[in-house]
Amino acid sequence: MSRRDVVLASSRETRQPAIKPINIGIAGAGRMGRAIIAAIDGRDDFHLSGIWVRDEQAAAALHVAAAVQVSADLDRAVDAADVIIDFSVAAATSQVVATAVRQQKPLVCGVSGLGDEQIARIDAASAVIPVVYDRNMSQGIAILERLVRQAATTLGMEFEVEIDETHHVHKKDAPSGTALKLGAAVAEARDQTFAAVRWYAPEAKTSRPAAGDIRFGVERRGEVRGVHKVSFVSATERLTFSHSVTSRQVFAVGALRAAAWISTQAPGRFDMGDVLFDKT
Ligand SMILES: NC(=O)c1ccc[n+]([C@@H]2O[C@H](COP(=O)([O-])OP(=O)(O)OC[C@H]3O[C@@H](n4cnc5c(N)ncnc54)[C@H](OP(=O)(O)O)[C@@H]3O)[C@@H](O)[C@H]2O)c1
Repeated sequence: MSRRDVVLASSRETRQPAIKPINIGIAGAGRMGRAIIAAIDGRDDFHLSGIWVRDEQAAAALHVAAAVQVSADLDRAVDAADVIIDFSVAAATSQVVATAVRQQKPLVCGVSGLGDEQIARIDAASAVIPVVYDRNMSQGIAILERLVRQAATTLGMEFEVEIDETHHVHKKDAPSGTALKLGAAVAEARDQTFAAVRWYAPEAKTSRPAAGDIRFGVERRGEVRGVHKVSFVSATERLTFSHSVTSRQVFAVGALRAAAWISTQAPGRFDMGDVLFDKT
């Protein structure tokens, strides 16, 4: 019987079908791990089964039920999970991927800053388990990417593309991974090689992007959680798509949606676009 099998409620009176909750094991109890704990709280379609922490002494501060397996032993922390959600750090992700493969569990990974070797491990794992990997788990960004792709395909090279992002002053990478993902989507839709047309020159005083380049603009200000704007500009009109994050919870909600979706998938590598637009 699969996890998502519908079971009959015990009540003879109602005989309402009830959905068996999906057991979630979280790797990483940082800001995002705690956001997922909060997002699961009060929902009856998910159950928190375990959390992988580095310091078991600090586990009390998580305020989870005694039955939740909070452990510094990754295998033990995710043992009862149906799906593992990884929001740890890049240095830990290879261990999480190896554990998911060994335990044959679907994996949702939102860790950013992964290197080529870690991405290769995810690719290899996706031959045996289903994996959703996305640097931005927000549902709105997945929709934005789809719309931007469609606009780029339809408008073609007649329109210049500008991608502007604003984040808090603590963010180190620029442009953001999400801005680059949106740029890559534009390039792919226009049959361009992204690396050849990506134009980001914060110090440039005189140089200008060439025709067909995708221009990136970056601003670091205050505690802004994340704003992305993609504009298509011609001599006669400007079309702008915009997305703003107002709370970190957006990524937790998206990760849970991905977890529900992936719990019934066959092995493969997926992103949030697959989760939202799956037609099967
Ligand atoms: N895809 C998305 O939509 C999205 C959204 C937001 C964030 N992110 C990414 O998600 C990741 C987590 O973000 P966050 O804001 O939650 O970060 P965070 O608050 O720094 O939490 C990181 C967690 O990883 C643990 N950790 C650190 N080094 C480790 C190691 N070597 N082995 C095992 N665990 C280790 C930390 O444990 P300690 O508490 O013991 O240090 C902490 O629990 C980052 O990569 C971030 O960029 C992705």
